[in-house]
Formats: sequence, C-alpha cells, structure tokens
Amino acid sequence: MQERVRDLRRDFDAALAAARDASSLAALRTRWLGRKDGLLTALLRDLRDVAPAERAVAGRVVNELKQHVEGSLEAAAGALLRPGAAPSLPALEASLPGRRRQPGAPHPLAQVRARIEETFLEMGFALGEGPEIETDHYNFTALNIPPHHPARDAQDTFYVEGGLLLRTHTSPVQIRTMERQKPPIKMVAIGKVFRRDPFDATHAPMFHQVEGLVVDEGIAFSHLKGTLERFCRKVLREDVRLRLRPSYFPFVEPGAEYDVSCVFCDQGGCGRCKGSGWIELGGTGMVHPAVFEGVGIDPERYTGFAFGLGIERIAMLTLGIDDIRLFFENDHRFLGQFPG
Ligand code: PHE
Repeated sequence: MQERVRDLRRDFDAALAAARDASSLAALRTRWLGRKDGLLTALLRDLRDVAPAERAVAGRVVNELKQHVEGSLEAAAGALLRPGAAPSLPALEASLPGRRRQPGAPHPLAQVRARIEETFLEMGFALGEGPEIETDHYNFTALNIPPHHPARDAQDTFYVEGGLLLRTHTSPVQIRTMERQKPPIKMVAIGKVFRRDPFDATHAPMFHQVEGLVVDEGIAFSHLKGTLERFCRKVLREDVRLRLRPSYFPFVEPGAEYDVSCVFCDQGGCGRCKGSGWIELGGTGMVHPAVFEGVGIDPERYTGFAFGLGIERIAMLTLGIDDIRLFFENDHRFLGQFPG
C-alpha cells in the first residue's frame, strides 16, 4: 500500500507540473478527488481490504497523500488568480529589473510655440490661420511680389500641381485675415513654412514662423518697436535689447530686420552671435499701401505693422541649442531633455 501511495504521489506531482491553466487544474481535481471515480476515493475505499494490523499506517499515508493533493491543487488555483499571473509563462522572475515607465512630453518646439502663443494672447492678439499649401497669389503677388520680382529668388519653394506651392512664409495669412476682417486687426498666426533650403545647422526645408499683423487708425512705427521689444523681453529675458536695421521686404515700407542683444555672451561677443553681440530674429515693417489697396483697406485712413519670427530661432535661443536638425531627428536622447 505504501508503495502504491508513493507511485501515485509521483504521478500526481508530474500531472500538476504539466497543468498550465484553470481547465487542466479542474480536470486534475476531478481525476483525483472526484467522488465517484477519483483515484483517491478509490484508494480510501481499498483501505478496507488492508489487513487490520497495517491499516493504521496505511490510513496515515493515504491521508497524507490526500492532504498533499488537496493542498497542491488549491495553491495552484490560487497562483492562477493572482493579478498578472500568466499561466502559460514560467514563474515570476523576481530578480529582473522592472519595466521603466517613459512619460511623454510635448516636443520642445511645441513647448516653445505654446509659450509664444500665450505671450501674444496676453498682449491682446487674436489667433489667425491659413493653409500650408498656398496659391502663388497669396504667397507672393498679393504681398506686392509680382511674377519675376527678384524677391522671389530668396524664397524658392516646392511647387505642387495646379499652380499651388508650399508657403514660404506665414505672411499670406496677413492677406487672408485682411480679406476677411476689417480693422482694427491684431492677430498672430503660427505654422509651418517651407523653403528650398539646405538642411544644415541653421537651415531646414521646413520650419515654423509666427506672423504678426496690427492694423488700425494711427498705428505708428513706435507701436511696432514697442510690441516687439515687449514680446522679446517676455519670452527671452527681461533685460534684452532690441535693434532694428533697415531692410527690404516688398510688402512693408519702411522695412527692417530686427535683432536682440545676445543672451549667451551679454554682448561680449561669442560664437553664437558671431562676435557681433546681436542675434537676428526676423523681419518687420509698416504694411505697404499697395498691400492695403489689394485687400480693399483704405491706406489713407489706416496704417499697420507686420512682423515675422522664426520659432526654431527662439527655441534655439531659449533652450540653448546650436543645431536646428536636432528638432527633426526625433532622437529620444535629445527630446528626453525637455520634459516640459
Ligand atoms: N515674411 C518675411 C520672411 O519670411 C518676414 C516678414 C514678415 C517681414 C512680416 C516683414 C513683415 O522673411
């Protein structure tokens, strides 16, 4: 009898080790503990035939086996119920390192864009919008850049079928806004622009601009300067200085490019400002009367200013980045440095 019990115990252990899921455990339970044909039930029944002298010992080993079977089945069923227990997988390997959570964050450009947007909203600007695929008319002609005008050379772009092109700047949103809305106008538009430019440390064939437009009676160049200065101080640094240099854009007159004092060297001269102490931010100027006439705004009554600003520029300045390509490579070692 003892031998038979030992063999049965070995059989049971083998069968239990092979049971991987709830249904095979249930089958095992029926096979061993089933009231009618269960192996243990039969064994207990057979105890009756054991000689009285051996019955006490035999009874003990059979009972031990019964407890073993019941206990093991219970433990196995419990293990299956534990959260995360995968019945078909090997037992939990507690020495493995856990899986690290990788919380995401908005792209650094999206973070800077949000900050710029907020700043202009605080200053009372409304948000404007326009398509990235533009007509030649909105991107050039309506901005006083007729066909064959040399200013087109500086903004070569990607041409799409049907006379469309990828906009080279956000200035077409000026036209779209003035067509839709009569003065007073105070709007900024943020978005992607495209140029047939090389992809190097300071250029990318796609980048982002902010366009600003303010039109009303009595708008003067001093409003332009005050607005840009206020914006730069809010976004860059409270003590930053603004410089305007005469420049040419066909849709403004007078036109200028504007620089801020270098935030890296405080104008001592460094590599970032190429020793000049100034960093260029964008173009600006008073809206050209020809542009007003094209959209039906009376240039005798209204004046206005416009400005353009590169988001990557601002991001490189505020985040201390020296290569624009980093923004577009999606390298987690870079992106992970800007948790937001
Ligand atoms: N659109 C011009 C550019 O991308 C910048 C600009 C905007 C200049 C508004 C003047 C007024 O170069």
